[in-house]
Amino acid sequence: MLSAQDNELLTRVGPGTPMGELLRRYWTPALLVSEVPTPGGDPVRVRLLGEDLVAFRDREGRVGLIQGNCPHRGASLFFGRNEAGPDGACGLRCPYHGWQFATDGTCIDMPSEPPTSSFKDRVKAKAYPTHESGGIVWTYMGPAETITPFRDFGTETLAPDEVAATKLHTSCNWVQAMEGNLDTSHISWLHQWEGVDDIPDDGSDKPGYPSNAMSWKFWKHDRAPRLEIEDTWYGFKYVGVRTTPAGHKHVRMSAFCFPYNTVIASVPFGTQHGLFVPVDDHNTIRYSFSTRVNEGLQEVGGTNLFALSPFEFGPAEVGRNGIIPRRYTAENDYGIDREEQRTTTYSGVREFISQDFMVTESMGPIYDRTQERLGTSDKAIIRMRRLLIAAAKSVAEGGEPPAVEPDLDYRSIRSAEKILDEGEDWRELGTDADPMVQRYDAGNARTPVAGS
Ligand code: FES
Ligand SMILES: [Fe+2]
Repeated sequence: MLSAQDNELLTRVGPGTPMGELLRRYWTPALLVSEVPTPGGDPVRVRLLGEDLVAFRDREGRVGLIQGNCPHRGASLFFGRNEAGPDGACGLRCPYHGWQFATDGTCIDMPSEPPTSSFKDRVKAKAYPTHESGGIVWTYMGPAETITPFRDFGTETLAPDEVAATKLHTSCNWVQAMEGNLDTSHISWLHQWEGVDDIPDDGSDKPGYPSNAMSWKFWKHDRAPRLEIEDTWYGFKYVGVRTTPAGHKHVRMSAFCFPYNTVIASVPFGTQHGLFVPVDDHNTIRYSFSTRVNEGLQEVGGTNLFALSPFEFGPAEVGRNGIIPRRYTAENDYGIDREEQRTTTYSGVREFISQDFMVTESMGPIYDRTQERLGTSDKAIIRMRRLLIAAAKSVAEGGEPPAVEPDLDYRSIRSAEKILDEGEDWRELGTDADPMVQRYDAGNARTPVAGS
């Protein structure tokens, strides 16, 4: 459990809060590139870390992210006109009195004032810098003097046809949503179903990489994983250790990277990041991107679980723009089917991701963590909270945020899943020293950054 004070510190992200100030020191997803696809196109509302903003792509193709309400008298710039301005400039023009702002917040036109007025030069809209990478428009909302280079998790070199970023809204605090993703224990419970026992043994219960279907059997076979954690430069990685039916040591390794990135266990290793970006204290957008395409099932044979499961793994239809609609919400009790819950699936919910939302959103927007009782299977969540709280306090006292240095190899953050051989150390899995990673990189043009 946490003290009420620490729970506040951990969860609140508005301007001036210690956690909000920590998060503002990192480049943060603000929206998908697909939401502002066209120069001169329609502006988009963005709410981020409790701030109301507006995003637009000006006629020259630059993406602006500026304050949502006009600096003049506060009309919403969402209703603005994205158009050419004087002297070859361009930007978003407020519909109320025509003041116009460039992507950097400069007021480039103030036609409601006399031509002789220099008032325009003394007005500026709050504007945050943007950077497009991997299908996401990222922004930096911290002080200009502490801005750091963009962290490349592998998105900078993705070919256009490999970009597959998505976003998904969840109605709860960002830490709560992230805890749900990091928690390895619940895969043995919430997401299970009866038919797992009937999946034929395909022979991969032995040291090495199990098939995805056999992994599911292992998760169900040993439902009380032992957690081992290793602190890293980016945060920590940890494994849930389970014993397989044949008596082997199976590990699922996931990673937490400051401040809200998770890379969840995957066979043989994973680079898909789930980022839990606060809209405000009560809402979160879960961004997702992968830097390698279908690496898991292609590499390891065996039964394809996706053809067997009784529920859908993601929402049936991802919008072409990458925005994933929510079909199951609190309003419809996540579509829970009690008969199915009795006979087929553990949760009764037909969609994998909505099973997660059912549990994390039903805690309320910000769970009162003074009320919880944590066990040994919660060790990773405890570590994540402690690291975040310590970093927020440190930054509030003038310290540097963790994991922002430009020379760190952010591409080397990977998850993994494997049955260990005698003497094999899980800490090697998914690192540059892992033969499976090397094998992949050898056959792939998008190798890690030079010198790594
Ligand atoms: S409120 Fe925007 S120009 Fe007046
Ligand atoms: Fe889950």
